[in-house]
Parts: sequence; structure tokens; C-alpha cells
Amino acid sequence: MTDSPARLRVGILISGQGSNMEALVRRSLEPDCPYDVALVISNRPKAAGLAAAEALGVAARIIDHSDFGQDREGHERTIDAALRAAGCQVIALAGYMRILTPFLVEGWSGRMINIHPSLLPNYPGLDTHRRAMEAGDAEAGCSVHLVTTGLDAGTVLGQARVAILPDDTVASLAGRVLAAEHQLYPQCLADFVRTALT
Ligand code: GAR
Repeated sequence: MTDSPARLRVGILISGQGSNMEALVRRSLEPDCPYDVALVISNRPKAAGLAAAEALGVAARIIDHSDFGQDREGHERTIDAALRAAGCQVIALAGYMRILTPFLVEGWSGRMINIHPSLLPNYPGLDTHRRAMEAGDAEAGCSVHLVTTGLDAGTVLGQARVAILPDDTVASLAGRVLAAEHQLYPQCLADFVRTALT
């Protein structure tokens, strides 16, 4: 009998529906996946992703930022402690809609990744699809990148492109990009983890 190879433990931070988190968890259920999802944390108590995580058998916690008032770092210290207690080695941000302080970014430097709904370096920040359409771009897409203190500025690990169609609305484009995100993110996280394990 051979030992199964070690799997790296990933913590996922969400704020909303968590469809990227779900794609990451589903990939982790496959036998050849190099990571396990050890914990999902939401900063919003009503995030739909919390129930989705639990339905997939993953531990999920609410750490509500509003309990910490203006103390962003205090919120992050609580998140950090929960991730470390769960043995997490990597953080994947999946629709986590809080600007991070240097405490979390520097504490997890090189071990935290994010998915962003644009072809970075184009359109960091919010409202990416509308901005791409208003610029007359032929293509939109998504990027997985390392998290640094700059807004959506870390090294890009992978991208997926989708055409912007003449009759697209922001919602139709966002839906097609989101479907591409669900393909890209699990693949990038698995590749990232494999590199980290070697
Ligand atoms: C995704 O499109 C993700 O790329 C985006 O929020 C959505 C979350 O959807 N993230 C950002 O804009 C981060 N700046 P999900 O909750 O269904 O994964």
C-alpha cells in the first residue's frame, strides 16, 4: 500500500454567493487534487456561500466585520487565528469584498491568491465588466493573482478570456466570465499548490 501524497490545506474567504468557493471545493473532492479545503470564512452572516460550503461537507464560519467597527486589523487577526487553528497553509479569496490590511497580506505573503473578474492589469477594483464594455474592448475575462498590498496588483498566475458580444449586457457578460472563473480558479489553485509542495 502506498501513502497518498500530502494535500495542502486551503482556507477560503467569501462575502457572497460563493460560486467560486464551490468550484474550488468540488475540485478538492477529486482524488488527484493536491489540496483540501479546511475552512470557509465569510465576513457577511447572510452569505449564501456558507450553506453551500456546509452542504459540501466543509467547515464554515462567520467572522462578521461589523462586530469590529473600524478595527479592520482586529477583524483580520480573528480570521488569521481561525485559519491557523484549522491548519490552513494557503488562503484563496473567492469574492471576498473587503480591502485587506498589511497584517493579513504580509502575514500570508506568497500564500494568498485571489480571482478578479478582468484581464489584469486592466480594470482593477470594482465594476469591471461595465468598464470593459464602455472602453469598447473586444474581450473580457478573469485573472487569478497573488495578493499583495496593491489593489489587484500581484503577479498574475493565470487568465481566461471571453469575447464581448455585440448584444451583451453587463449581466450577460458577467455570467459568461463567472463560468470561465469556475474553470480557471480550481486549475490555478491546484497548479499553485503543486508548486508549493515541490
Ligand atoms: C466573482 O466574479 C469574483 O471574480 C468577484 O466577485 C465575484 C464573486 O462571485 N471578485 C471580485 O470582484 C474581487 N475584487 P462568487 O461569490 O459567486 O464566487
